[in-house]
Amino acid sequence: MIYRLFFRYVLLRLDPEDAHRLVSRILRSTRRVPGIRPMMRALFSPEPPCLEVRALGLSFANPLGVAAGVDKEADWFESLGDLGFGHVEVGTVTADGQEGNERPRIHRLPRDRALHNSMGFPNPGAAKLAGRLGARTGHPVVGVNIGKTRTVELQDAAADYRRSVRLLAPSSDYVVLNVSSPNTPGLRSMQGLEDLRALIAAVRAELQSMGAEPPLLVKIGPDLTDAEIEAIADLAVEVGLNGIVAVNTTSDAGVLRHSGEEARSIDHGGISGAPLKGRSMEVLRLLYARAGSRLVLVSVGGVETAEDVWERVAAGATLVQAYTGFVYGGPLWAARINRRLARKVKAAGLSSLGELIGTAASSGSGADQGAGVPPG
Ligand SMILES: Cc1cc2nc3c(=O)[nH]c(=O)nc-3n(C[C@H](O)[C@H](O)[C@H](O)COP(=O)(O)O)c2cc1C
Repeated sequence: MIYRLFFRYVLLRLDPEDAHRLVSRILRSTRRVPGIRPMMRALFSPEPPCLEVRALGLSFANPLGVAAGVDKEADWFESLGDLGFGHVEVGTVTADGQEGNERPRIHRLPRDRALHNSMGFPNPGAAKLAGRLGARTGHPVVGVNIGKTRTVELQDAAADYRRSVRLLAPSSDYVVLNVSSPNTPGLRSMQGLEDLRALIAAVRAELQSMGAEPPLLVKIGPDLTDAEIEAIADLAVEVGLNGIVAVNTTSDAGVLRHSGEEARSIDHGGISGAPLKGRSMEVLRLLYARAGSRLVLVSVGGVETAEDVWERVAAGATLVQAYTGFVYGGPLWAARINRRLARKVKAAGLSSLGELIGTAASSGSGADQGAGVPPG
């Protein structure tokens, strides 16, 4: 109720990016109040054991995480954890710091419960983020999402990712190679099989040279064809990737029911939120049918309710993330979802949510064991 009033009378009057900064600043500063963190955690993230997920060799308090883009600068992931999220994917970060595209670059499309963004990876650069991540303590799990520096040519992208990985891998719980943002020209072409294979090999070589092997995942977009998605799943299994994060934003304004004209007038960028729900589910089903539990699947796109999380897990997701649902749902959103999820686990007679993974999938090689355990 309070958030709804604050959203309507304060946040909605601000540019969405300023509103985002204001909320992150408020949460960051409340952390300095003595005793507030344990209190917030007791209230919002009581961590019922039935929601705990073990994946990627890590322990997550629950499957619900914050999608990349919310904490681009790795400066409020701890507050996000205190609000009930089991993990935060910080970034996208690039090797060199950059400003991103011109503002305004986030637009609300409330009639569709969607956002349209053309951020272009504004971030302070890998070295700065590494410093911030290095200082963190346990909860929540923090993954880092890495992208290409805008000024680096596509043919030099692998070296650019390597630079970021070298700086960030030691302080991250897992690493995601982002090849699917629509806001960095040419980036999505790296979802092509040969480019992707070369990128993964280059990053692996870098990690091996450091003696570090954090779980490695790729983040893919919803605008690939089904055949392309299946081919990426096959490649991921073949090269021993730990998982796939699916999906990024879509460039297809056709998914909008009510605000299509508004979005078309904003000339580039990606759409997130409720309109992505259908395609995100389709992509998850394709991936699970192809790879089963040989990959950890992280489902993102249009997650708004505990029922959405439940459906994703039943369809084969081990982890679930959100951005837009959190923006519209407010700071207590994750806590509400976790409470409801815990009740659903109990009502279904399960001892843990993990037992649900893939149970609604009709086919696939889901019987394989040992999902997502880092090689070696
Ligand atoms: C404003 C905004 C910024 C985003 N920035 C990133 C980013 O930097 N890296 C990335 O991989 N995804 C980014 N995303 C995509 C989200 O991580 C997510 O994949 C997408 O929004 C779909 O999830 P949702 O429907 O829950 O928002 C961004 C999304 C939004 C709305």
